[in-house]
Amino acid sequence: MTTEIIKIDPENLSEAENVLSKAADVIKNGGLVIFPTETVYGLGADATSADAALKIYKAKGRPSDNPLIIHVAKPEDAELYTETSALYYKLASTFMPGPLTVIMPSKDIIPLQTRASLPTVAVRCPENPIARRLIELSGVPIAAPSANLSGSPSPTSFSHVKDDMLGRVDVIIDGGDADFGLESTIVKIESDNTLTLLRPGKITPEQLSLIADVTIASAVVEKLGENEAPLSPGMKYRHYAPKAPLALLDGDVNEICKYLEKYRTDRVAILCYDEYEELIKTKLPEVSVYTFGKKEDREEQAHRLFALLRSADKEDFDHIFAPLPETTGIGLALYNRMIRAAAHTIIKL
Ligand code: TXA
Ligand code: MG
Repeated sequence: MTTEIIKIDPENLSEAENVLSKAADVIKNGGLVIFPTETVYGLGADATSADAALKIYKAKGRPSDNPLIIHVAKPEDAELYTETSALYYKLASTFMPGPLTVIMPSKDIIPLQTRASLPTVAVRCPENPIARRLIELSGVPIAAPSANLSGSPSPTSFSHVKDDMLGRVDVIIDGGDADFGLESTIVKIESDNTLTLLRPGKITPEQLSLIADVTIASAVVEKLGENEAPLSPGMKYRHYAPKAPLALLDGDVNEICKYLEKYRTDRVAILCYDEYEELIKTKLPEVSVYTFGKKEDREEQAHRLFALLRSADKEDFDHIFAPLPETTGIGLALYNRMIRAAAHTIIKL
């Protein structure tokens, strides 16, 4: 199919009202529109239409047992589609609109195809003004997974989206780079009013704990056991993985340099902190170095991780290495994406 590309400046949204209305019409008519959010780009369709939801799975090559997040323009719109609770409204008043997705019992209006036959549905109210206006003008909740082909890193820029999705959707809205760069934090509200963290993101467990008791699902930091049922279907799928095997190195920069001595070829790349660059380049001149921000600047690392994985993937490396992130604050989100990209290969130095 031909994909129409629309460029919108999020700072001048009022000028884009006409083109956004056209994109909203595409959603209303059961079509697919890719739009920017503050986390990553989303591949959207009418969440209340089973046929539209099925088109999403097809365009992404996504297994149909992996449910979609529905995006609403206002937190209180969740009322129409789910059984909300006082805890939901506490979360909403603190974190919404923003990068938090909440799983609650679904109402029948959300077809089983959107939620992969689960009794629950995931709801998120994005902060990005283009996303919010698009949902408002559509008049329906928009089901949207990340707008990448299944298995590759989520797209954080228009060029990533184009690489994966041109010709597979009706419209792509180019709204510039994603702000945060990793997908939303996902929590499930349990019947005892506690939260289970299913995917870490910008909203950290430390922040969530101020509102309710939080249990971090073991699959967030560990490999899912062979016979273990995932709490979230997405946990069982390979994700973010570059073509060359990625291994995470648990040690300081000197230990990393020492370890990489045996990999001194131009077929090897390391993703590392800005502070490591000079030493690695001096000691290992053959190795390709990709920096992703200062060691303590986790927001910058989050912002650049997926773009780095995509660009390293364009070169034909035999091995890619990266330091193992810490698990506090936003570090947990980086850790979660990176252990999955590395298929849990961690080397203790
Ligand atoms: O930041 C984000 O959340 C982006 C933007 C576009 O909003 N969306 C996104 O969607 O990352 P997706 O489909 O790539 O990831 C959603 C994850 C999947 O791992 C899925 O298994 C899980 O959420 N999920 C969705 N509904 C669920 C449910 N009812 N129960 C458990 N897990 C659910
Ligand atoms: Mg995804």
